[in-house]
Amino acid sequence: MDKIFFIYCVGLLIVAYGTAETILSESISIFDELGSFDAEERDEIENFALPSCNSEHGSKVLVNVDGFGAVGNGVSDDTQAFVNAWKQACTTPKSVFLVPIGRRYLVNATRFKGPCADKLIVQIDGTIIAPDEPKNWDPNYPRIWLEFSNLTGVLFQGGGVIDGSGSKWWAASCKKNKSNPCKGAPTALTIDSSSAVKVKGLTIRNSQQMHFIVSKSDSVRVSDVQISAPGDSPNTDGIHITGSTNVVLQNCKIGTGDDCISIVNGSSNIKMKKIYCGPGHGISIGSLGKDNSTGIVTMVVLDTAFLRETTNGLRIKTWQGGSGYVRSVRYQNVMMEDVSNPIIIDQFYCDSPTACQNQTSAVEVSQIMYRNISGTSQSERAMKFACSDTVPCKNIILHDINLEKKDGTAETYCHSATGIGYGYIQPSAECLTSSDKDFIIEQSQEVEPEKPRRENLIHSEL
Ligand SMILES: *[C@@H]1O[C@H](CO)[C@@H](O)[C@H](O)[C@H]1NC(C)=O
Ligand SMILES: *[C@@H]1O[C@H](CO)[C@@H](O)[C@H](O)[C@H]1NC(C)=O
Ligand SMILES: *[C@@H]1O[C@H](CO)[C@@H](O)[C@H](O)[C@H]1NC(C)=O
Ligand SMILES: *[C@@H]1O[C@H](CO)[C@@H](O)[C@H](O)[C@H]1NC(C)=O
Ligand SMILES: *[C@@H]1O[C@H](CO)[C@@H](O)[C@H](O)[C@H]1NC(C)=O
Ligand SMILES: *[C@@H]1O[C@H](CO)[C@@H](O)[C@H](O)[C@H]1NC(C)=O
Ligand SMILES: *[C@@H]1O[C@H](CO)[C@@H](O)[C@H](O)[C@H]1NC(C)=O
Repeated sequence: MDKIFFIYCVGLLIVAYGTAETILSESISIFDELGSFDAEERDEIENFALPSCNSEHGSKVLVNVDGFGAVGNGVSDDTQAFVNAWKQACTTPKSVFLVPIGRRYLVNATRFKGPCADKLIVQIDGTIIAPDEPKNWDPNYPRIWLEFSNLTGVLFQGGGVIDGSGSKWWAASCKKNKSNPCKGAPTALTIDSSSAVKVKGLTIRNSQQMHFIVSKSDSVRVSDVQISAPGDSPNTDGIHITGSTNVVLQNCKIGTGDDCISIVNGSSNIKMKKIYCGPGHGISIGSLGKDNSTGIVTMVVLDTAFLRETTNGLRIKTWQGGSGYVRSVRYQNVMMEDVSNPIIIDQFYCDSPTACQNQTSAVEVSQIMYRNISGTSQSERAMKFACSDTVPCKNIILHDINLEKKDGTAETYCHSATGIGYGYIQPSAECLTSSDKDFIIEQSQEVEPEKPRRENLIHSEL
């Protein structure tokens, strides 16, 4: 099994390392950082401390919540049974914390803390549901429902469901009714301050607010996870990554009322592959820079995604007045259907009840590449680069873009944004290059002679 995984990883690396792009990385200096990300990725996957599959055979200790008095009828409070079972599982090496199939366990807001003994597996096959009444929520845990923290080398898996029973929380949101107070609601599943964690196969739905947060963690791999909530449920982000490094999201299907994926401050080396998104607000970096804060996100790759009927596609959103930067981002092989803002950088993001004033400082956005992005836009502005007057967006690279408006003409909007485009670009993005005289002078000698080589390579890729 380890061997198969390794071979699979090598296959992935060959794809990720690319061909045409490697040549380009060598010829265009602005790719230096992304080029080195590919190299780092090699290390990251090899060192990734996955729980070994071999150990699953031998002496596993089953810790079934039913053995601790859980009833699983969806009505009795099973919180204490879960807490007690966790204590047992966490202190026993090679144990499996089991939530058995075919039952519904009602569990209150709970912190499941590590560190735990080696090789813990959290096997969720049944359904875990949250109490649905916000008024009775434990005031000590206003922002969490199931939080796992301080874990190393833990595998979460199973075909089970984590259901936040969120409808009353949504109705109480100020986004739904302006006379409601604006306050945060719990996140269904949180993995905090952990490393070498793998989450595989779970379904998370109808969260009170965000569905799944990965915070202050390193080396987290999420695969085959499904997340769903109604398209009009407020702030129900799918997967939210904050203060985390080396996170891989693969094969995830997400449809909610907010961002399918959001990546915020302190996150780098984030790789997303095979993502299905919709409904929702798209795949976002940000928001960053709220209340003059510093936001830093670097080295993000999205490869192979399908977005359907989302309000945004590939979005970077920052508030006026922030600082820090978003740098080295690559989006590739993305299909969109009826997306309102397929490609958007918005440095004027303002999600507050009062208008936001323009300021001189902003989160700097540079080295953003879009490659092989196609599909249909609901709005005319299929590509929008709205950047700060004082901190322009730089080095935006477009390579093979085909975005159309079903009835009408698509266009590109640029404000204070510079970059280059090559290959087929529809709608045309001349507004990016026109104001970028320095860049053109600097690069033209190097880029032109590469042309024949690059074309050969692109053909050989197909
Ligand atoms: C959950 O916690 C709240 C507040 O401590 C308590 O009132 C309630 O009985 C607990 N159980 C359930 C199932 O809500
Ligand atoms: C996390 O675990 C370490 C021991 O490995 C401990 O020292 C630390 O206090 C724990 N942190 C939290 C927030 O529980
Ligand atoms: C909004 O909330 C107020 C106060 O709770 C309530 O009176 C009003 O009916 C609500 N409006 C809607 C549209 O639900
Ligand atoms: C941003 O992330 C860095 C690194 O994780 C952290 O030190 C800093 O406090 C964060 N800033 C904000 C505003 O959250
Ligand atoms: C952010 O900085 C601006 C300019 O210095 C200042 O006017 C504003 O009050 C600050 N906002 C916050 C939330 O600190
Ligand atoms: C472009 O992306 C689409 C959608 O992910 C994919 O099916 C196609 O193979 C890609 N084309 C190239 C040339 O990589
Ligand atoms: C902020 O600046 C942008 C770009 O110059 C401009 O379009 C927008 O109207 C300004 N907003 C405010 C509130 O001044």
